[in-house]
Amino acid sequence: MGRVEGKTALITGASRGIGKAIALELAREGARVAINYSSNEAKATEVADEIAAMGGESMIVQANIGDAKEARAMVEKVADHFGHLDVLVNNAGITRDSLLPRMTDEQWVEVISTNLNGCFFCTSAAIPIMTSQSFGRIINVSSMNGQIPAVGQANYSASKGGIIAFTRTAAAELVRSGITVNSISPGYTDTDMFAAVPDAIQAHIKSKIPLGRYAHPEEIAKTVTFLVADGDYITGEQINVNGGAHMA
Ligand SMILES: NC(=O)c1ccc[n+]([C@@H]2O[C@H](COP(=O)([O-])OP(=O)(O)OC[C@H]3O[C@@H](n4cnc5c(N)ncnc54)[C@H](OP(=O)(O)O)[C@@H]3O)[C@@H](O)[C@H]2O)c1
Repeated sequence: MGRVEGKTALITGASRGIGKAIALELAREGARVAINYSSNEAKATEVADEIAAMGGESMIVQANIGDAKEARAMVEKVADHFGHLDVLVNNAGITRDSLLPRMTDEQWVEVISTNLNGCFFCTSAAIPIMTSQSFGRIINVSSMNGQIPAVGQANYSASKGGIIAFTRTAAAELVRSGITVNSISPGYTDTDMFAAVPDAIQAHIKSKIPLGRYAHPEEIAKTVTFLVADGDYITGEQINVNGGAHMA
């Protein structure tokens, strides 16, 4: 029997990278999972096919989480489909890097809308569902760069720092409803997002990581599974998974 058998989970941004690893890991451990994507249906379908091949059950849901109506409709659709919603992983995120003097309003707004507003929209839609069940596990994917200066990422670091602050307040407000809220902050992780960083900068970054390598997406996914399977007494926490690159 899997460690999260019988649970249902919605993972935003699960077509690729860390979200994909989380969807596969939760499915492997017995959860029925909803795979959200924004534009890449083919990749989302591949994840669903992998889950089916391991005997698991999933559904695919397209939605732009930065759009309040789409995000909320998605959460309700998933809860209706599965009959309950136990786990929400607010994972989807984007970067639009630029030094502040050149950062455009569009770069700022797009990142805040997706990363921070999207986390709020999905969470607020999940709260009544989870409250009525007296059970919920909300896990927000923040970033090491929400805790340290991240040159060229003022928009991204503000969104990720905001997620950590949001997590603590949400945890405090929901603690009597059977809902725990925690955040996980990956360090540099081997995904499409990080592949966009120029090679010379990647080499510099790697040289600064005490464990000497990037994270594998599966290592972030295992932390999510830990919180869902064994984290009943953990709420309002911020867990760093960064190879020792930042010790808060
Ligand atoms: N990789 C790292 O080094 C790193 C480090 C720290 C934190 N993180 C955080 O970890 C999370 C996952 O990152 P990743 O590296 O796995 O990213 P990724 O490989 O770029 O994948 C991003 C995922 O988010 C989805 N997405 C993007 N915009 C969306 C929107 N508006 N609505 C719904 N889904 C959307 C994408 O869907 P489509 O496939 O449809 O585009 C994709 O599934 C992000 O929050 C990121 O900030 C990553």
